[in-house]
Amino acid sequence: MALDFQGNIVSVIQVIALILLIIGVYPYRIRTKNRNLIMHGFLSILALALNLTTVISVMIPIFSTSITFISGLPILQSTIVWLHVASGLAAIILGLVIIGSWIVHPLGELGCSKVWRLMIPTFLIWALALVLGLIIHIYNIV
Ligand code: HEM
Repeated sequence: MALDFQGNIVSVIQVIALILLIIGVYPYRIRTKNRNLIMHGFLSILALALNLTTVISVMIPIFSTSITFISGLPILQSTIVWLHVASGLAAIILGLVIIGSWIVHPLGELGCSKVWRLMIPTFLIWALALVLGLIIHIYNIV
């Protein structure tokens, strides 16, 4: 089965974005200084920026022109696509809330620490969206 070139590029960018989120958490796990938490913040912003670039330039245009096609897919495929869209949107909104709460204060004050409980759920929802996106790509669903 031949995978489309653009989808391959988008998939690689999305996997890199998730890896950036994981790398950013590592210094936090070993409980070092604020500088590493700031690095975690910057890597998360970079991950969200990479994510948004492909969602806005590729996924939303394809999604908006394929809604009728997606609705007509067999139940399993259409559930995968709708779940992908819902989890993807949720991850992006949560990501924007977390990053927003950081950057509206001086960075060293770590305003995002008030929403730290959102971080693991956001990561898990993001990872779910990624797995579903890779399934959509590999099985050529859309
Ligand atoms: C955390 C957020 C998201 C992640 C990690 C993600 C990841 C992916 C990946 C890896 C693919 C396969 C590459 C491809 O076929 O182009 C994909 C495809 C797709 N995604 Fe997402 N996605 C996210 C958000 C969204 C959102 C919000 C939408 C809704 C507008 C969306 C709609 C689609 C569509 C329609 C495709 C198929 C594109 C195609 O046929 O090439 N995704 N996604």
